[in-house]
Amino acid sequence: MPDFDVLVIGGGVAGLRAAIAARQAGASVALISKVHPLRTNSAVAAGGLNAPLGIDDSLADYVRDIVEVADGLADVQIAQTFAAEARDEIIWLDRMGVPFNRDSKGKLALRAFGANSRKRSCYVDDRTGHAILQVVYEQFQRARIPAFFDCFVTSLTAGNGTSPAVTVLALRKGELELFGARAMILATGGFTQLYAPSTASLGTTGDGHTWAYLAGARLMDMEMVQFHPTVFPGGPGLLITEAALTGGAEIVDQDGNLLIQQKVLPREKLASAVFQAAQKSGRVLLDLRRLAEGQLNATLPQTCELVQAVAAIDPSKEPIPIHPAAHRAIGGIETDINGRTSVSGLFAAGECACNGLNGAGRLAGNALTEALISGRRAGEAAALYARSEHRREPARAQLADEERRLKSLVATEKVRGDSDTTLKLHTELAQLMDRNVGLARDASSLQSALDHISRLKERYGRIRLHNASLIYNSELTSYLELGSLLNIAELVTKAAQARTESRGAHCRTDFPQRNDSQWNRHTIVSRVDGAPYVGTRSVQA
Ligand code: FUM
Repeated sequence: MPDFDVLVIGGGVAGLRAAIAARQAGASVALISKVHPLRTNSAVAAGGLNAPLGIDDSLADYVRDIVEVADGLADVQIAQTFAAEARDEIIWLDRMGVPFNRDSKGKLALRAFGANSRKRSCYVDDRTGHAILQVVYEQFQRARIPAFFDCFVTSLTAGNGTSPAVTVLALRKGELELFGARAMILATGGFTQLYAPSTASLGTTGDGHTWAYLAGARLMDMEMVQFHPTVFPGGPGLLITEAALTGGAEIVDQDGNLLIQQKVLPREKLASAVFQAAQKSGRVLLDLRRLAEGQLNATLPQTCELVQAVAAIDPSKEPIPIHPAAHRAIGGIETDINGRTSVSGLFAAGECACNGLNGAGRLAGNALTEALISGRRAGEAAALYARSEHRREPARAQLADEERRLKSLVATEKVRGDSDTTLKLHTELAQLMDRNVGLARDASSLQSALDHISRLKERYGRIRLHNASLIYNSELTSYLELGSLLNIAELVTKAAQARTESRGAHCRTDFPQRNDSQWNRHTIVSRVDGAPYVGTRSVQA
């Protein structure tokens, strides 16, 4: 059995950064990812990443903006630590060769982004995520860390006196293997493929959340799901960076009239404003022609290319239809500032983790900075933990059980007529979540979502797979991903049902006000007697 001090699951920016940091701290490390790093969801981050680098900026201003957007639920000390470390991560990226845009003096160019009160987002045109992934991956390769790509984790055990272990299906060989470690870091990204449309890449299916929950970890603020305000509605959810707005683009109606005057809003509020405008006036468009002369092609080249390719629209000639779409999870696996979860030996970093920084809303431009800082911290903490831990042999029975389970899933009798397929159920689930647990929710939409999810779970159990091979069996991996999404759907909906107020990304039309006396608290979902239980936890001042 391959055995390491630290095993990282997930190959996006957070996972790569965690692996590098753990290696630098002296641990033996390996990384497992179901896709190649350059195809992970980190690439979606377009507009930039934040640090208080401007001469008119300060730590205090940055923390104030984070706390304001978190709408009363930020753990302020976490925000202070995070803000203090942002600068060093960007300097590291700059030194490693990220081709950041520059100002006329050759310094890092900064753009205003979302509800930031200062220009503090460093960027690479509108492909910041891509550029950063390339460079962090290069550093990962230089550290000679063993990597297992196209390797799909099918189950995880942790806690209860065992060292963490995962069963891994190597897709190329079609073989299942057990990997153990003294410490394990989940950096598996978010879960917004739970919605349609979604800006997230196809594999963003909450796998890590589900394994952690099943292993006994607590999940925090799961009802907080961030919708992005400026997404082209056709196709899979093509994100047009919000940075376009601060660059001069306007949100207009069919006749070119301004629909939204106040564009500098927390992303959650802007997404709601676009949603309401769409309900009132039908079509909502983003007019990129209002950017200053030369800025469109100079700072948004990827947007121009993709909008042309996907929608056959030339943004220099006509406005682009937009609609809010599910973008990123805000809640996730509860951790401390070092990525430690409630299960010993299990850490989490990046979008799958929730340490209280974002509360009810994430400041635009913080996602990549957060991936870097939380990845580095989790890597260092996991390496330290591994040093003091004796390895406890994982239960080998896990491998045999999992082999039996997978074989029973693929070796099924001939499919009868019109049985459900994974795609059919996923589509139905995503539409349900968008309609009932989306930008606006109420008691009745949430209860009917829960009833529907439970019926979908029954139908899921009856799905029969056609492809009997374990080699690159995407029918099987999509099926397993849908299992995670169904689980997450229930947790998000239960947490949304519990929070009887509106705050940040969570809008209850039946409880439209923020209710500090009752709800100035994080929700915590944990597994009690096999079922989700929603409790709460205080916000750290
Ligand atoms: O609008 C944007 O560029 C979004 C970026 C992000 O969420 O990282």
